[in-house]
Amino acid sequence: MKSKIVLITGATQGIGKEIALALANNGHHVIIHGRNNTKLQTVAREIKNASGNNNVDIITADLFSLSEVKNMADEFKRRYDRLDVLINNAGAFLNKQREVTGDGLEKTMTLNLFAPFLLMKSLTDDLLKSSSARIINLSSAMHRRGGRPDLGDVQSEKKYSPARAYGLSKLYLIWITRYMAKQLADKGIKNITVNATHPGAVATNFGQDSDKGFITNMIFKIALFFMDKPSKGAAASIFLATSPEVENITGEFFDN
Ligand SMILES: NC(=O)c1ccc[n+]([C@@H]2O[C@H](COP(=O)([O-])OP(=O)(O)OC[C@H]3O[C@@H](n4cnc5c(N)ncnc54)[C@H](OP(=O)(O)O)[C@@H]3O)[C@@H](O)[C@H]2O)c1
Repeated sequence: MKSKIVLITGATQGIGKEIALALANNGHHVIIHGRNNTKLQTVAREIKNASGNNNVDIITADLFSLSEVKNMADEFKRRYDRLDVLINNAGAFLNKQREVTGDGLEKTMTLNLFAPFLLMKSLTDDLLKSSSARIINLSSAMHRRGGRPDLGDVQSEKKYSPARAYGLSKLYLIWITRYMAKQLADKGIKNITVNATHPGAVATNFGQDSDKGFITNMIFKIALFFMDKPSKGAAASIFLATSPEVENITGEFFDN
């Protein structure tokens, strides 16, 4: 298989790190993203040692800041001549209190929706330079659990709970995936596919650090015992990134 240039957001732990390791094992050039440079360097070293592949680079940006997302895309353009696979994996289930970023935007939507959308848009030119490019957006089965969408209140100013913000962000991510696929088709672009996926219920650090309220915090802790390993959670994304079977499939949602 030809080596692909793959950018994975949120690859310092959990599912993203497993995707990065598997793709490095398969000889791909992997760029792992995170917000903490020291953690990124440690993970890059681990993946290089485990895979024997030295083509593991790091790129840093806090995805709560849209200007950092833009800077990250600009840095990517300076460093690489094309992008074959973009995996928008970074995401979180946040606190019981609504929080806003420095830009004044609700944090869950910023991380789970606005950042991946901005990254897709900013890197489209780089994906166009690939003979066959793919975008994979990590959504969630929780997209069914956010309640009734309210496009007049995307920032959850009127009604907020972490589950609602998370569920709706993942629903909108699927809508944005379909929208991107349609936009690319309308422009006659055939070499970029864009799909969304649910990785399964996976035992990672997901939702473990946030304060969601006593009962929800306990449910998240207990659930860890019944969840899949991160390597299983990574499987659908690895399949979507590399399998010839999905070469021309776009605008779809893949359950794990
Ligand atoms: N685990 C599940 O059961 C499950 C189920 C459905 C969907 N998903 C989705 O799968 C994806 C991966 O989740 P996971 O389970 O692997 O979670 P995780 O272990 O918590 O990893 C999340 C990753 O996102 C990064 N991240 C978080 N906030 C960030 C920010 N502001 N800027 C930059 N990076 C940030 C984290 O970096 P740090 O190391 O700096 O924190 C980490 O690398 C998410 O989109 C999640 O919604 C997970």
